[in-house]
Amino acid sequence: MIADLRGYLGYLSSKSRLVEVSERVSTDLEISAMTSIAGKESPHHSKSLLFKNVEGYDMPVATNLFGSVDTISELFSDARIPELITGIMHPKGGAGNMLRGAKVLIDSMPKVAGFSSRNYDRLSSLDELPIIKAWPKDAGRFITLPLVITKGQDGSTNVGIYRMQVFDDMTTGMHWQAQKGGAIHAHDARQAGKTMPVSVTIGTDPFNMVSAATPLPQGINEFAFAGMARRSRTQLVKNGDYPPVPANSEIILYGEVDPSEKRVEGPFGDHTGYYSIPEPANVFHIKEIYAKKNAVYAASVVGHPWHEDASIGLFMMDYLKPMVSMVNDSITDIYLPPEGLFTHVCFIKVNKRFPGEARKAMFTVLGLGQLSFVKMVVAFDDDIDIRDYGSVLWAMASRVEPGRDIQIINGAPTDTLDHTANMPAYGSKVLIDATKKSAGEGYAREWPDTIAMTKEVLESAERKWRKSR
Ligand SMILES: Cc1cc2nc3c(=O)[nH]c(=O)nc-3n(C[C@H](O)[C@H](O)[C@H](O)COP(=O)(O)O)c2cc1C
Repeated sequence: MIADLRGYLGYLSSKSRLVEVSERVSTDLEISAMTSIAGKESPHHSKSLLFKNVEGYDMPVATNLFGSVDTISELFSDARIPELITGIMHPKGGAGNMLRGAKVLIDSMPKVAGFSSRNYDRLSSLDELPIIKAWPKDAGRFITLPLVITKGQDGSTNVGIYRMQVFDDMTTGMHWQAQKGGAIHAHDARQAGKTMPVSVTIGTDPFNMVSAATPLPQGINEFAFAGMARRSRTQLVKNGDYPPVPANSEIILYGEVDPSEKRVEGPFGDHTGYYSIPEPANVFHIKEIYAKKNAVYAASVVGHPWHEDASIGLFMMDYLKPMVSMVNDSITDIYLPPEGLFTHVCFIKVNKRFPGEARKAMFTVLGLGQLSFVKMVVAFDDDIDIRDYGSVLWAMASRVEPGRDIQIINGAPTDTLDHTANMPAYGSKVLIDATKKSAGEGYAREWPDTIAMTKEVLESAERKWRKSR
């Protein structure tokens, strides 16, 4: 049972996946540089770092907490959450299955108690926290692994990880992208002419942290999702009008966002491998800061692929696949290549049963939650390994006729981080149908068979080849 961030560090250490750094390091670029080196040493299986000797601070800094896909998979291995959710929303197992699923969901709802400042030290300013500057041209220091908790006008809660640029000792930016949960809450608060009380947690157990980064369907509570993974309800604490935070938070910031107030945020070295273009963002005015005794500060470093966000992305994609197939059962597999930045390029496998079904599947992707940020979708037949770039290129070369199979869609929402678009978060999409074509799709010739040796000859040839070598 991993109770909190420190429990998670103990878990990582017991698996030899934690490097404790006693060298004196600076929050100014050095922690970031060492984290990048560790990440690149073994992409997707890298060790976490705990910097215990941070220049100017007593507080240790933990980074690359999710650099290992194996670790995230282990944490979530028992949960089978997507099957549960699809079981409820699209019950193939009948009413019994649906009821069992609903019970699990109800049993996972977070528990809320009152916040007690006795468990915390009250800090006077952000300057007491070892907030890092990650890349040389960053606009300053950024809180890079905050769980930002907001409330909607309907009382619903959203949790997302959105970076926060330090503007001064009690003020930060709030980089929730236009289509994200926090931004939607800000939009609604602005319409209602209200300011928003906002809570931020830095450092909690890994279930809460991964859930906050997970693109869950609207209406599924991140802390309930964490409870399902952890197999025990998330314990929250509530302080006045602020949205409740996990009881095991290392650091808590309480404050307010006036949704009509904007200030230029960035540049920031982002996971695209480029500095983000400075843009107006909402502003977070902090009123109270708390830190547990001996708190550990958690930070994430992103940059040119790959860093830990790629491990998180790889895990999530596999994990959430059943939900995509639930919406459109012709999509049998989906892969967002890390080098395609997760939000820019998407490969899908389609079980094509009627003319145009590959297009329908690609339209599905463009209409689904954060998958809709993708700007290039390519559809493949079942015989193509969409995780093997050789196989992918072979299909694109041998099954695509550009005039017929490539479609460009203008005037669509895009990822805010896509600097190629003329305007922020608004651009175009390309759909590439790399499936074999049928007469029903206007292909008047006979589609040629793929070359394959007969099984018997192949087996005997392999035997003879082994002897001859
Ligand atoms: C390390 C890290 C940093 C992130 N930074 C941001 C960010 O600055 N802005 C943003 O909109 N999303 C960011 N994300 C992605 C969101 O956390 C993710 O899309 C999440 O699903 C958002 O939650 P929501 O759907 O409830 O809005 C980040 C994710 C990670 C793992």
